Amino acid sequence: MAIDPVQRIALPTVAQSYVFRKNPNLGNVDELEKTVKVLKQGLYFDLEHFQSAKALPAEFYGEQVWKALRVMLRQNWLAVGHTKDLVKPFDYITLNFAGGLLLVIKDEKGKLHAFKNRCTHEKKILVAPPEYPEKGNLSAVKRLDNNKKILKCFYHGMKFKINDESPLTKYVVDTWGPLVFVLMQDLRNRPEQIELEKNRLQAMLAPLNEITKDMDISSFQTDDEEWNDSLKCHFALFDGNYCDAAHILETHFKTLAKTLVLPEYKCQYFGPASLQTCPVKEETSGIPGGAMAYYFKLPPTAAINIYKQNRDRNIPLPPRAINMDSIDTNIVRPIDRKDTVVTFGFHFPPGWHKLGILKKLLKLFGWDMSLSGKYKASSKRIQYEDRDRCENAQLGVENDLGDDIDNFGHFLKPEILKFAFQKWMVLELEQIVVEAKKG
Ligand code: FES
Ligand SMILES: [Fe+2]
Repeated sequence: MAIDPVQRIALPTVAQSYVFRKNPNLGNVDELEKTVKVLKQGLYFDLEHFQSAKALPAEFYGEQVWKALRVMLRQNWLAVGHTKDLVKPFDYITLNFAGGLLLVIKDEKGKLHAFKNRCTHEKKILVAPPEYPEKGNLSAVKRLDNNKKILKCFYHGMKFKINDESPLTKYVVDTWGPLVFVLMQDLRNRPEQIELEKNRLQAMLAPLNEITKDMDISSFQTDDEEWNDSLKCHFALFDGNYCDAAHILETHFKTLAKTLVLPEYKCQYFGPASLQTCPVKEETSGIPGGAMAYYFKLPPTAAINIYKQNRDRNIPLPPRAINMDSIDTNIVRPIDRKDTVVTFGFHFPPGWHKLGILKKLLKLFGWDMSLSGKYKASSKRIQYEDRDRCENAQLGVENDLGDDIDNFGHFLKPEILKFAFQKWMVLELEQIVVEAKKG
């Protein structure tokens, strides 16, 4: 498969504005420092010379580095959910990010807040995240319907207002299109830092604005069906796979590879975000005039896949043709070191769910023939193929005895964005060690 080397484009201005938690639990920092040095040696190459670099060894996916990766997750913007779930006052979502408990909720005026989902008294979970349904208190939020406008811990009854003054740990929250992002740091006493962080997020997402400027995404509807796929693997294996254009032909030879014009595949790096683009064939995709596929990754947790009906070929659309643009979003959520959940959200222009009477009947029996149904089914097939490869890679790193002649892997040419992603993570780890050593 011919895949173009990376195409350089102007980088958005990204502020280096990390705020480090004092004394994070990193275990033995000297040992961690040694490990990071080894990882860095393998990846100490630039984008021009990446093929001489060495991919991350099994050690990266072990317990010692995992502690530092949990800190890394708290220093970066994380995609956490969909705006469709946060429409009315007191709508909320809860989730667990590598042990970080999160509650995102709208206040009575419609302002979005993100809190640590833990009581300040004896640290009980306030509202149950899906993984621990028995350990929270969903009824506490239901009580909000009675105009109480508070969260009440059901252990000893402490009450928390939902506003900027809440004593709960308060994180920074922002949105882009259908996605909600959270930075798990309490910066409420530093409004200028909040501004900087929000600008950093929007600068990293700027390429998406360019891609979607003629798509009217505000009219898109997010499908009710949100799909959570559980993977028995490290999140970095899944993320790395996303950034790896070399696997498409082999792993997805029956699915994705059939629809893409692979010789025209391109990889672009924005640091730390990346974009893969490829034309989509008209005949295999069923999209009149074909389309352009955009796969945008904002590490560590967001991926946004856009299929934009081809605007460049001047092929007239049939009368009353429907808009065939689409977006699907992946929220990659590390639960634990070998345990990752990927939440798929599907976002379609109006008309994608329409069904005639016969197709409606078929849907009752689980056979969704709508455009959206077909799209979701094909996304799932591709995800099953990816999940299989990622879980297999996890077995590979778990069972590594470190006795190979060379414990590092190597990169193929189309893996350039995987190299960039791995190098970004190692640089994050290095920065965490430097800060930890300052004490
Ligand atoms: S733990 Fe919440 S009130 Fe005591
Ligand atoms: Fe894939």
